[in-house]
Amino acid sequence: KTERTFIMIKPDAVQRGLVGKIICRFEEKGFKLVAMKQKIGSKELFAKHYESLKKLKFYDGLVAYMATSPVVAMVWEGLGVVKTGRLMLGETDPAKSLPGTIRGDYCIEIGRNICHGSDSVASANDEIALWFDDSELCHWTPSN
Ligand code: CMP
Repeated sequence: KTERTFIMIKPDAVQRGLVGKIICRFEEKGFKLVAMKQKIGSKELFAKHYESLKKLKFYDGLVAYMATSPVVAMVWEGLGVVKTGRLMLGETDPAKSLPGTIRGDYCIEIGRNICHGSDSVASANDEIALWFDDSELCHWTPSN
């Protein structure tokens, strides 16, 4: 099914100059870019974004870290993009991510795993609504 996912390039990847490489993977795969912005998110925004992890011990550090410097927030659309997007990112822990995946190729630490991808269509919809106004989503179809 054609669906949308929320992909975020994290501060570590922005700082390391990996923005283009990560976008490239999704473009080359054939997914369609619907929205994108660079932003320094507030702690309040990340507290909401990671609300489901609130009870975990790394939550405060995660929220503080994510709000330190810019992230690149994106919406990608295509057939099965939620599941395929997660496969392309690799496992949450880079050490468990196979070479050929984004995390498998570019990072080594779980707390600096360079990108985020929605884990279901429902959370994609919630995350897209949290990060973007409807007016920021581009409705377009390739013409050839
Ligand atoms: P993400 O896909 O953004 O979802 C939750 C994030 O929490 C995850 O990527 C990691 O960056 C972070 N995370 C998960 N486990 C740990 C951990 N043990 N220590 C620090 N950060 C973690």
